[in-house]
Amino acid sequence: MEKLQFNQTILRLRKGDITRCEVDAIVNAANESLLGGGGVDGAIHRAAGPELLAACRLLNGCRTGEAKLTPGFRLKAAYVIHTVGPVWMGGTHGEADLLSSCYQKSLELADANRIRTLAFPAISTGIYGYPLDQATTIAVGTVRKYLENHPQTILKEITFVCFDDATVHVYEQAFEESE
Ligand code: AR6
Repeated sequence: MEKLQFNQTILRLRKGDITRCEVDAIVNAANESLLGGGGVDGAIHRAAGPELLAACRLLNGCRTGEAKLTPGFRLKAAYVIHTVGPVWMGGTHGEADLLSSCYQKSLELADANRIRTLAFPAISTGIYGYPLDQATTIAVGTVRKYLENHPQTILKEITFVCFDDATVHVYEQAFEESE
């Protein structure tokens, strides 16, 4: 199953590169410096161009679990929402709440900026080592709860962009469990 609907908002799954998504905003899995890195962060900075780093320098970093907005510059997306996921340290250091907060704060920022279409990567599941199945349950569950609690949301479509088949498979399972 690749689609769910809550109130007026559709949740989708898509395999691919988030930098190519034609949406109002893409979410970046950044680090607290907001000055770039590897993984999806590096890909977004390369695709957006050097203007993105210049814009990020003005933000004074971002705490884990928080989110900040910049323009998308050379991306198709008008905006980038930079959020900082937790580094996995075994699960007893508040990782679940911090990861949930990344999704929650990104959605709040999207609504505040009248963003209608939004794409998320699988935050924290790469370099930061968060177990994929647990992270996916939090991602889908937090988005679902947000939509249920915000029936007036501007968001029309939220896409979970999966970089590989294994990630697609785990998101499919989370969608099925969330139905
Ligand atoms: N499009 C979509 N997903 C992608 C892409 C892409 N172009 N590239 C990678 N992914 P990661 P994290 C997936 O490591 O775990 C950076 O250095 C990837 O397969 O990018 O939150 C930051 O600066 C995985 O499923 O982010 C931080 O220091 C997911 O995106 C640190 O990594 C997240 O993997 C953040 O680590």
